[in-house]
Amino acid sequence: MSKITAAITGVGAYLPEYRLTNQILETMVDTNDEWITTRTGIKERRILKDVGKGSSYLAINAAKDLIQKTGVDPKEIDLVIVATATPDMKAASTAAFTATNIGAVNAFSYDLEAACSSFLFGMSAASSYIESGKYKKVLLIGADKNSSMINYEDRATCIIFGDGAGAVLFEPNTEGLGLQDEILRSNGEGREFLHAQYGGSSYPSTPEAVAEGKHFVFQEGRTVFKNAVFNMADVTERVMKRNDLTNDDIQWLAAHQANKRIIEATANRVNLNPDKVMMNIHKYGNTTSATLPLLLHDYESQLKKNDKLIFAAFGGGFTWGAIYLTWAYNS
Ligand code: UT7
Repeated sequence: MSKITAAITGVGAYLPEYRLTNQILETMVDTNDEWITTRTGIKERRILKDVGKGSSYLAINAAKDLIQKTGVDPKEIDLVIVATATPDMKAASTAAFTATNIGAVNAFSYDLEAACSSFLFGMSAASSYIESGKYKKVLLIGADKNSSMINYEDRATCIIFGDGAGAVLFEPNTEGLGLQDEILRSNGEGREFLHAQYGGSSYPSTPEAVAEGKHFVFQEGRTVFKNAVFNMADVTERVMKRNDLTNDDIQWLAAHQANKRIIEATANRVNLNPDKVMMNIHKYGNTTSATLPLLLHDYESQLKKNDKLIFAAFGGGFTWGAIYLTWAYNS
């Protein structure tokens, strides 16, 4: 019997309407469009402003978009994984709320948190359930309302992050298409360079901590940048080498959209032509768990059956990895 492979069979997305442009940020902190554009590649990000709406709102809408596009019956979905670094609430699964709200009443569900690598690690998890033969439809959603943990007086972070969500459906494939190989890694020594210190179990929020803004995201940008460039390029190169892939074989690189310069460095390291590098950071900024599915959403019409894609991500923790996947359908 041939091995079951796990293929992506549909993509959906949701972006809040409000656009936080570089020009608006210029009025909020000491920054300018030229600095942000040259250092990051970002021009604008989307922000979910509605009070009481969290990452599940983004996730639900991305999933509904996928359901509407693919025609999949939500009752047939076996598992809903919500990859997120910004769950709605503590002690209550964002994925359970999402699954119920999209009508996935027969599914089990859970959140997966690996900072900016959440969706990449979720691709591995979702594929494993399909490859096991036990599950036929796994919905993986990457959703983050980053604006909920950003200090809009801190120019080191507020220019980077945006809100958004993307969803993909994984199903069994009998032609060998889908996830082919992966290298996933983590190193907890990176925690001090990118985190929100207060509000978790180590340091529950106190009025003093909130007054000092210690519940917001802190990033030591240069250190994270260096680690991101080195590690993302390293795993991308290794996953390509061990599958005998060169620039000629690869159609697309889908890399986490944290900084245009990090993405370009990764592509350079593996000699990939710039026109094979998916890029949408200028429109959405860094949407954490949503960057990879939002790339698939924006490039879906250009993807062809049998295309070879490399996914790569790096994030807080540190967490990082690369995945080699073959595309399973023509749009
Ligand atoms: O997704 C999770 C993983 N995250 C990442 O991969 C992000 C990695 N890091 C980065 O993308 C970059 O480090 C940043 C975009 C965050 C910062 O860019 P950088 O080129 O590393 O800048 P820097 O922190 O080294 O700062 C350079 C200068 C500094 O001024 P001095 O000390 O040279 O006078 C900063 O104070 O730029 C200044 N600066 C700014 N200037 C205008 C820092 N932020 C800003 C700003 N506007 N927003």
